[in-house]
Amino acid sequence: MISIKSPREISLMRYAGHINYLTHEEIKKHLRPGITTEELDRIAYNFIIKHDCIPSCLNYEGYPKSICISINDEVVHGIPSKRKIKNHDVVSIDLCVGYKGYHTDAARTYIIGSSSKEIEDLVENTKKALYEGLSKIKAGAKIGDIGNAISTFAHQHNLSVVEALCGHGVGTTIHEDPDVPNFGIKNTGKTLKEGMTIAVEPMLNLGDKEVCMTDLNDWVIVTEDGLPSAHFEHTVLITKDGYEILTGE
Ligand code: MF3
Ligand code: CO
Repeated sequence: MISIKSPREISLMRYAGHINYLTHEEIKKHLRPGITTEELDRIAYNFIIKHDCIPSCLNYEGYPKSICISINDEVVHGIPSKRKIKNHDVVSIDLCVGYKGYHTDAARTYIIGSSSKEIEDLVENTKKALYEGLSKIKAGAKIGDIGNAISTFAHQHNLSVVEALCGHGVGTTIHEDPDVPNFGIKNTGKTLKEGMTIAVEPMLNLGDKEVCMTDLNDWVIVTEDGLPSAHFEHTVLITKDGYEILTGE
């Protein structure tokens, strides 16, 4: 069942989304070579709590930290640790913020310092792919329209689309109905309606689309070929004529 949020629920999600955005901005200020991912996790935790919100990932299905930090070949769900950020790393920060029982989910990828042209393009085009997908959203559009736009854009730029993971509805829990795949056929799938809230989150790879778990832990997912991956995500509200980004500026 896909829930339709009431005006009250939407205003709670707007606040959670705003704090999600500000938490990303706070992390960005501290993101430099030498800082550990655990230190970034701590900064996020303190910031979120200070604003009367909760880091929704903490203890979610046993997840041990407040945010996910995935580096280079890590696609998603990297667990903060003593690992130090290094120059040229491709760092994805994914975080969920909840307020009074309502959650939001957003991710960004950064390059530390600089990288090769192809890796810079990977990151830039993954961000653009998110906005390509979002551009199809309005009441009456179909879920397949979003994934079709994302995968078409990705393939035009020689990137592969991770198909094993997808976007999702978001609200009273981080993951609600419906699934929002990053590939699909136009005009197929469930119909978007005003008041639905979904997280759209392309994960694009420089190499092959295949991903797998490691034997490090039960969370982190990496590319099978070891090449880098990028991830951008926003939580959005579906409106009559389009969408409102809840985790944006
Ligand atoms: N943003 C992540 C996702 O949609 C949240 C994962 S929950 C965690 O998959 F427990 F892994 F943090
Ligand atoms: Co998500």
